[in-house]
Amino acid sequence: MKKDLKKLLDLSKDDILLILNTAEKLKAEWKERRKHDFPPNKTLVMIFEKNSTRTRVSFEVTMTHLGGHAIFLSNADSQLGRGEPIKDTARVLSRYCDAIMIRTFGQDVVEELAEWSTVPVINGLTDFEHPCQLLADLMTIREHKGKLEGLKVCWIGDGNNVANSLIVGCLKSGMNVSAACPDGYTPDKQILDFAATVTDYSFELTNDPKIAAKDADVIFTDVWASMGQEEEMAKRQKAFAGYQVNEEILALANPKCMIQHCLPAHKGEEISEEVFEKHADEIFDEAENRLHVQKAVLYLLMKN
Ligand code: CP
Ligand code: NVA
Repeated sequence: MKKDLKKLLDLSKDDILLILNTAEKLKAEWKERRKHDFPPNKTLVMIFEKNSTRTRVSFEVTMTHLGGHAIFLSNADSQLGRGEPIKDTARVLSRYCDAIMIRTFGQDVVEELAEWSTVPVINGLTDFEHPCQLLADLMTIREHKGKLEGLKVCWIGDGNNVANSLIVGCLKSGMNVSAACPDGYTPDKQILDFAATVTDYSFELTNDPKIAAKDADVIFTDVWASMGQEEEMAKRQKAFAGYQVNEEILALANPKCMIQHCLPAHKGEEISEEVFEKHADEIFDEAENRLHVQKAVLYLLMKN
């Protein structure tokens, strides 16, 4: 593993499997209330420039389980909000803590923070990727289906940060991916360029959700307007009409198709209430696995 988890584009298939296998072991230990073999008193600083429920709580609880401590920093109450440069913040925080988690807008912020930090930096969501989310999703799919290799994963909706990570994480894990996104809302070019290099597994990009959903083993979706895009909501509601994951779409998929949603969900928009509630166990297993998979990431990056 490299020093940082900046994006799934940086990880190999072996890195992903190491994280998933470690997460599985740590989850089993935790379920049996066995102590994790991890040095005590480590500190994680968590920088949030956007809202969060799952990411904040799961990282903070993870540090408690590992016998360490997590510190929450937001723009409002740190010098970041008053313009202190990222490269200075990186050098200061590296003197105090053992790892830094950041949720921010530009991927360049994570890259710069990692470049100047001597401790591991973990991307807790940027506009470009949400790697921790996808690692939790892969863990959940593997738990439910017993494998990843060869499954067909379908994305319906915005080609956003979660879609970007999904395409990379699933293709690197040996899955076939189909994505249905409206014109103008397709995944980032860097991600499409990566997908074009993959020869062993298929990647299909369409603007027809019915084509993408055909025979899918897992269907994913996410909100139509991500954090920072709230003012585009009316325009996006028009563009995404017809991109709802509902019974009609699910009828085209494999009869045992799973549903994954990173949450929070806007039920009645990107997913119907009926489909959400029918698949709630899978979706909340996915939310739970954020805790286990991030614990694995911290375990692997902070152990020494
Ligand atoms: N899925 C996810 O990252 O949730 P939060 O925004 O609540 O952290
Ligand atoms: N795409 C969403 C994911 C939230 C967890 C966002 O960036 O707001």
